[in-house]
Amino acid sequence: MNEHANPQSLSARADELEEQMMHALGERIATKSVLFNMADGKIEMDSGPALKAANPDKYFLMGADPRLPEMPDKPTLIDFFHNRFASLNHLLQSATHALKGGHNEKVVLACLLHDIGVASFIRCDHGYWGAQMIEPYVDEEVSWAVRMHQALRFFPDPAVGYEYPEMYIKYFGADYKPEPYIVAEYERARNHKFYMTSRLITVNDIYSFDPDAKVDLNDFVDIIGRNFKQPKEGLGFDNSPSAHMWRTLMWPTRFL
Ligand SMILES: [Fe+2]
Ligand SMILES: [Fe+2]
Repeated sequence: MNEHANPQSLSARADELEEQMMHALGERIATKSVLFNMADGKIEMDSGPALKAANPDKYFLMGADPRLPEMPDKPTLIDFFHNRFASLNHLLQSATHALKGGHNEKVVLACLLHDIGVASFIRCDHGYWGAQMIEPYVDEEVSWAVRMHQALRFFPDPAVGYEYPEMYIKYFGADYKPEPYIVAEYERARNHKFYMTSRLITVNDIYSFDPDAKVDLNDFVDIIGRNFKQPKEGLGFDNSPSAHMWRTLMWPTRFL
């Protein structure tokens, strides 16, 4: 068979196979939300009736996705670090840098959590997402700092040794200008009482990944214990304003 003869049917076949692999999880069907598809440039969602028609004997997944690490019944922040955050090194290196610099525990915690939006959820506006996730559980100073690092990292503060990152020139081009909402946020943050806490996130942000750095989440367990109010019901089950975000991380492919 000439496999180049009919590329359309091949790609249709590939789609079909992918759908079978991705959706058929034993007796359950996992679904992709619109956001997952938008990342591939498509505005679409899995059709419930079509999937059900193709898998008449199966029910939709309404709980844990067996392809992801199992979460305990009452998950802690540490459980999310281990089981849901795609990368720990950047967070641990930044927090270690802050710890070695002799900064207080709020600053160290802010550095440890500053990019959990990216590590677990989404890149766009990650400072805002990350701050919202932790807001019910940390001092206002910590969540404010995480939120504002989104804007502050684009603006130098030579008084504390923070220059515009070389990496951003490489990543975004020399002519990249932050959006007006980021500029306005920076201007508001500049005179805020917690400005320096957020600024210290940017100062301790390790932009170049060091594969040889010795970092360990255990170094921060006590700081988390003292500064992150772990709900006794588990993150996601405590009825806080951000509980749904933690549940979504736990069960990202639930049908509803
Ligand atoms: Fe960041
Ligand atoms: Fe960062």
